[in-house]
Amino acid sequence: MDTDTTEASTDHPDQSAFGPVGVIGAGAMGAGIAQVAATAGHAVTLVDSMPGAAAAAVDRIGVALRRLVDKGRLSDDDASAVLARITPAASVEELPECGLVIEAVPEDLDLKRRIFADLADVQPSTTVLATNTSSIDIDDIAAEVADPERVLGLHFFNPPPVMRLVEVVHGERTARAFVEHAVALMDAWGKTPVRCSSTPGFIVNRVARPFYGEAQRIVESGVADAATVDWALRERGGFPMGPLELTDFIGQDVNLAVGTSVWEQTARDERYAPTAYQQGLVEAGRLGRKTGSGVYAYAADGSITDAEPDVELAERLVGGPVATDPLARTLAMLVNEAVDLVARGEASVDDVDTAMQLGTRYPKGPIAWGREIGFDVVARQITELDQAFPGGRYRPSPALTDGSMT
Ligand SMILES: NC(=O)c1ccc[n+]([C@@H]2O[C@H](COP(=O)([O-])OP(=O)(O)OC[C@H]3O[C@@H](n4cnc5c(N)ncnc54)[C@H](O)[C@@H]3O)[C@@H](O)[C@H]2O)c1
Repeated sequence: MDTDTTEASTDHPDQSAFGPVGVIGAGAMGAGIAQVAATAGHAVTLVDSMPGAAAAAVDRIGVALRRLVDKGRLSDDDASAVLARITPAASVEELPECGLVIEAVPEDLDLKRRIFADLADVQPSTTVLATNTSSIDIDDIAAEVADPERVLGLHFFNPPPVMRLVEVVHGERTARAFVEHAVALMDAWGKTPVRCSSTPGFIVNRVARPFYGEAQRIVESGVADAATVDWALRERGGFPMGPLELTDFIGQDVNLAVGTSVWEQTARDERYAPTAYQQGLVEAGRLGRKTGSGVYAYAADGSITDAEPDVELAERLVGGPVATDPLARTLAMLVNEAVDLVARGEASVDDVDTAMQLGTRYPKGPIAWGREIGFDVVARQITELDQAFPGGRYRPSPALTDGSMT
């Protein structure tokens, strides 16, 4: 992934009128979000409860800004000004009155709930209280906040200074005015906000599930090996990475945890059930690149050592029966998932397509892709998959055939 595209501060209007921004948690995401907010002109207070962690994060931001200066993307003066706008702190009580506070502490509901209750106590009722959670329901996080209409999700992608997409997530009790306010602010920060409701996995982590799941199932069934499936998705689908190499890149444990969370939150819907294949990798400690082996084995320089695609086989499978066609099968399930999300009113067509292109670098939005393939064709393919693999995983969304997508 290209990490050289960070926007420079001079691209943004001065946001200081909006007021200071608080960021809680100075880990990978919090530090990146603090950098983005300060780059957009805000005074930022970066809070971490671990002694020294917030100051260390400010140092890391300084190094990141220096790299931008070295590449000619930021002037020396701007880098110094951005860094000077960030103040480390150790508790939420040290925050000034903020226009927005973004929480980015570990993914633990009790911890987040406590932090939101504390924030609601110390911040004025006009302050937007946002969480960067990837998977927890916004209303659950807001449970102990007296005025939950100001609580919403701002789901940044990693690394926040590089990734343009932000999912602006509303809970059942979030007021529209706060959502629109957050959307406008993300626009002003140079981000591309998309709106969605607090549904398991939001847009990206929900719609992407079959990208991994179908590939794993095809390998599990012995139809083709991982390198051949990845080749088909890359070379015939135009995806920047095949699904199996991507799970090695993300980390099998991380990818399995996200999938399992969506599965649990959908009452263990078969559509999101984890595969024995991936569980086996995790149990064996084959977590991907970070452990030197996962789906593939890696040399010290990061290259894959043990995999050659069977191109002839891939060519034969693509365009054949959908049950053994890695590309058609994956696309059908991606389109179905995206259409279903829209049909349930969780997000708009444009927001789903934008989110999948920016959040996962799919070559096309899944709904636009479905329109190209034909929604009726997709519905038939899913029905065929259901016949080949009964059990409830393959259920065509009624919206594929009721005319609502055309
Ligand atoms: N890492 C990612 O790729 C990614 C992407 C999108 C969203 N998220 C979400 O962002 C959040 C943070 O993830 P991360 O990867 O940055 O985690 P992290 O573990 O890197 O950082 C969390 C930080 O929070 C601090 N912290 C813990 N308890 C605290 C408290 N009570 N008050 C203040 N600080 C506290 C920790 O000391 C740590 O520095 C999670 O909800 C995660 O799901 C992560």
